[in-house]
Amino acid sequence: MLINNWYVLGLSDELGDTPVAARALGQDFVLFRDVDGRAHCLANTCVHKGGSLCRGKTIGGAVQCPYHGWRFDGDGRCIEIPSLGPQRRIPKRARVDAYPTQEQWGWIWVFLGDLPESERPALPDFFPELDAADPGWRFNRGQAQFRCNWVRAIENGVDRSHAVFVHTDFGNPERKVVAEYEVVDDGQSLYVRGASKPLDKRGAWREAIPDRRDERENEVRIYLRAPCIRIQMHMQPPKSQIIVTAYTPLEEGLTQLRFIQARNFLTDPAYDEDALNRVYFVIKEDAAVLDHLKPVRVPPSLADELLLENDKHGTLFRQRVKELDARGWAIDTLAMRDEIDRVRAIPCPARRADPRNWVQRPVLLRPPAAGERGAAQGWHSG
Ligand code: FES
Ligand SMILES: [Fe+2]
Repeated sequence: MLINNWYVLGLSDELGDTPVAARALGQDFVLFRDVDGRAHCLANTCVHKGGSLCRGKTIGGAVQCPYHGWRFDGDGRCIEIPSLGPQRRIPKRARVDAYPTQEQWGWIWVFLGDLPESERPALPDFFPELDAADPGWRFNRGQAQFRCNWVRAIENGVDRSHAVFVHTDFGNPERKVVAEYEVVDDGQSLYVRGASKPLDKRGAWREAIPDRRDERENEVRIYLRAPCIRIQMHMQPPKSQIIVTAYTPLEEGLTQLRFIQARNFLTDPAYDEDALNRVYFVIKEDAAVLDHLKPVRVPPSLADELLLENDKHGTLFRQRVKELDARGWAIDTLAMRDEIDRVRAIPCPARRADPRNWVQRPVLLRPPAAGERGAAQGWHSG
């Protein structure tokens, strides 16, 4: 699991006047809104005596710990300690990590890491030509979990040889052989354009697209620094479906999926349920396989599995993850496995700017490879 990436930690319309719990990278977080309605994300554990902030209240745009009422603002600073009285100074160490947060397309994105703003990647624009209010497009949302590592979950999303064996709706027995394909690395994503000939066995969609071409153009893109897959299926131009799935690692072996499904055909809301069920059906079929893969984390070397040329989209992604790992951005989950008397936090940008005066220690990170300038260098000694 990598720090210094953007992750979806919650849904905009589920974050209102009360704090909301979130989980990612094996850590707990709290989401809340300030008086201007801006979303904030803090490490969830109160530095006083370990209260769980998400179980508290939002008061005056700050989150109040349920235990002794300390209040933390959107920057993670404690602004009130009721037991101190107004004349006494709040200690500088009364703060928790606060993470850059942005809302886009109904998702609450949080940058879990300590890079300064100038070094943070931009969030991708998944729907450059569309507007969420465009009546020509209908948007659905959903979520699910895979009991597998996030890298394996993303690899599955671009896996070209599994459909015929896993997906009864569209896996085409005539298309077992994977055609050669190119992967384009545009710096932000790994991009493949190709054609498929799905079966489309079911109902209304088959009727909506009666004279669809035999071959369907697809664009499949893995975003690297905001782990997502965007698939656009040109069902029968201009009829098209776009599915963007964000993958949030909860634990090494548990991944949260949140997806947006956009379509510009059958846009009557009456078709929403059917459209959503199609995605959930596919997810369920994938889960039947993904929930049982071994080892839990992808092996350290590509040679530890027998990857083929036609697996290369996923394999290239695996390599990119390893490059980020080599920068010293991978959480050393095993090293912290038996800690029961310490809370750690993903380091936030304020911690890098001012490494002293923090109560909680940063998570342990695997050391950067020789020659890499690790983002959190020096902290992995714990
Ligand atoms: S534990 Fe949070 S205020 Fe005491
Ligand atoms: Fe699949």
